[in-house]
Amino acid sequence: MAAQIIDGKAVSAKVKEEVRQEIEREGLEVGLAVVIVGDDPASRVYVNNKKKACEVCGIKSYEYALPAETTEEELLELVDTLNADEKVNGILVQLPLPKHLNEEKVIERISPMKDVDAFHAANVGKIMIGNYAFLPCTPAGCMELIHSAGIDVSGKECVVIGRSNIVGKPMAMLLLHENGTVTVCHSRTKDLKEVCRRADILVAAVGRAGFVTADMVKDGAVVIDVGINRNADGKLCGDVAYDEVAEKASFITPVPGGVGPMTIAMLMKNTVMAKRIQSK
Ligand code: GUN
Repeated sequence: MAAQIIDGKAVSAKVKEEVRQEIEREGLEVGLAVVIVGDDPASRVYVNNKKKACEVCGIKSYEYALPAETTEEELLELVDTLNADEKVNGILVQLPLPKHLNEEKVIERISPMKDVDAFHAANVGKIMIGNYAFLPCTPAGCMELIHSAGIDVSGKECVVIGRSNIVGKPMAMLLLHENGTVTVCHSRTKDLKEVCRRADILVAAVGRAGFVTADMVKDGAVVIDVGINRNADGKLCGDVAYDEVAEKASFITPVPGGVGPMTIAMLMKNTVMAKRIQSK
């Protein structure tokens, strides 16, 4: 039987509408600074989408587009300025940064109270403990999609492919917090196919088009595709070979229109949360 499609566009619209209403109801003044360094075309698209979402929600966005040759010192100085700016509740530095800039150093400079990506070590530590203010946007978006389909994670076999700090590791934590039995796979995993075939919930965050094929998926599994890739024809596609896997899965997220819009919706939620934390 063909899988049910989890509509990330619809779920994200609902989350953004909730954020918009909350801001309107309470008359909150919320600001998000978005920093982009260089001219990576994918980053430009993401940043534009984040700014659009701010507009929809009634959040003021401040864009800082810096040239690729910006020095680390200049970028850190900007972060210091934004940390001190009361109009700015959230600071987002779009990754990846140009090679000569140390991402970790830049992220660690952001005030943890304004770190709406939840990339700062202080926030990552809180996620690990399970006591957190900011949810990591992409994993939180995946959880929201899983919930929207009425799926209970408790006791399920969950397999996450990919161990990045942005997605794989925090995703594993959120599934664990909901009592999933979690396995994290990566490039050194032996028998990847066999491990994936155990999954009731399979999350693909690999960054390779069509990596997850039908033979890696159990009948009736829930498949969450975090990948955003371009295939040989330049068409946007996920990490999952969609057509064949959709024949086997019970639920599947499409690309585009799945996890992508959710990441941005959760960012909006975090930005309002940042405002609340700073108002205390
Ligand atoms: N690059 C890819 N995904 C993200 C994200 O969620 N936040 C930031 N800041 N950069 C990214």
